[in-house]
Amino acid sequence: MGNAKLIYDDKEYELPLVVGTEGERALDIGKLLAQTGLITLDPAYTSTGSCSSKITFIDGDQGILRYRGYPIEEVAQRASFTEVAYLLINGRRPTHEELVSFRTRLTRHTLIHEDMKKFYEGYPPHAHPMAIMAAMFASLSSFYPEDEAELDLNIVRILAKSSTLAAFAYKKSIGQPFIYPRNDLSLAGNFLRMMFAVPAEEYVVNPVMEDALNLLLILHADHEQNCSTSTMRMVGSSGANLFASISAAICSLWGPLHGGANQAVIEMLDEIRADGGDYKKFLAEVKDGKSKTRLMGFGHRVYKNFDPRAKLLKDAADRLFSELGIHDPLLELAMGIEEEALKDEYFIKRKLYPNVDFYSGIIYRTMGIPTNMFTVMFTLGRLPGWIAHWLEQRAEGARIHRPRQLYIGETLRSFTSR
Ligand code: SDX
Repeated sequence: MGNAKLIYDDKEYELPLVVGTEGERALDIGKLLAQTGLITLDPAYTSTGSCSSKITFIDGDQGILRYRGYPIEEVAQRASFTEVAYLLINGRRPTHEELVSFRTRLTRHTLIHEDMKKFYEGYPPHAHPMAIMAAMFASLSSFYPEDEAELDLNIVRILAKSSTLAAFAYKKSIGQPFIYPRNDLSLAGNFLRMMFAVPAEEYVVNPVMEDALNLLLILHADHEQNCSTSTMRMVGSSGANLFASISAAICSLWGPLHGGANQAVIEMLDEIRADGGDYKKFLAEVKDGKSKTRLMGFGHRVYKNFDPRAKLLKDAADRLFSELGIHDPLLELAMGIEEEALKDEYFIKRKLYPNVDFYSGIIYRTMGIPTNMFTVMFTLGRLPGWIAHWLEQRAEGARIHRPRQLYIGETLRSFTSR
């Protein structure tokens, strides 16, 4: 592959072109500043790659998503979330024995230190669970050493304790006693039981819900350099420990334009339904742009075709409702909006399609998970991806991320005494 030529200030510079394994091409500008004195400017990183990675491949035009080369459609159908976590973090599928051992280790590390329970007491009942999760993950570094020897075990601790921390945040918010994890349940089954069991009666995990949660976790497990994963890499590049990096990524995911969108979608659908269900009126408001209203759950920086996860989630929602024999008016409303938007010039021109957040909230709702816990669910799914990227960057010995800027402020002026 040749080089690109830059002609600047009557001089010609060669910039190397680099090619990825899927034929993607990039201009390596690592030496641009040294050669030309120029930096590039790309505030939202629309045209900027921050790294090379072997973890996840997305083709936004084709609607392709692969974890370590495996198509998401096949992974979603055949894998458990535990196996997907192993695959993303280790770069290969586990043998049967490795998977059994990994699952056993996770099972044995689901408890949190009893002292951590005291942190929950300090929060008001209406505290957003993402605030609690960000604090709890940073606090884990006070209980577990961050040295190299513990890294592998800390990864197990993070994946195992995340469901417990999340379920405890929910129980705290409704004033119910914490339900401790059990060793005879799957990761998804344990989470559902910790969320919904009460001491007075035995809770039986519904296998349909358990499968749906397993799928949701898999579909959220990684998505290359999204905002929260880039945060994970940025914070990790300073040498911050894994717990602190995850805490930062949780805060980034919380935003309504990112992981917070699943909560915003349900709030949007509820609003439309409360206003009589006239989604064509709502779409007209979105299109006229005056109110800055957005169709939450639609659009994506990379996907300019269907987000393959949205398709899988729409099918899963359909299946779940027929298996449970329930009818959720919000699903019907969401499908109506999708159908209308996909044939509307405003959305077609801007290549706006449903993304992962458009249907996920409807499934979480059906499980009885409250809206303000939806982004926590995204967190539980995304943990393996965040960890995999943090490890990949660390293994490369990447330098600290320190972008430059274009200064457009005041020029020199003296600070005269008044
Ligand atoms: C996730 O990066 C990832 O991979 C993220 C994620 C992951 O797995 O980690 O996939 C998860 O975050 C999914 C996205 C969830 N967010 C939402 O659903 C919020 C609603 N969507 C948007 O706000 C928006 O589409 C983004 C944030 C997702 C993408 O924004 P971009 O790429 O910066 O696009 P933009 O804001 O510049 O919009 C381009 C145009 C604009 O119109 P014009 O100014 O050209 O007239 O499209 C319009 C926007 O107004 N537009 C929308 C819209 N999204 C973009 N108009 C109405 N509704 C929308 N949802």
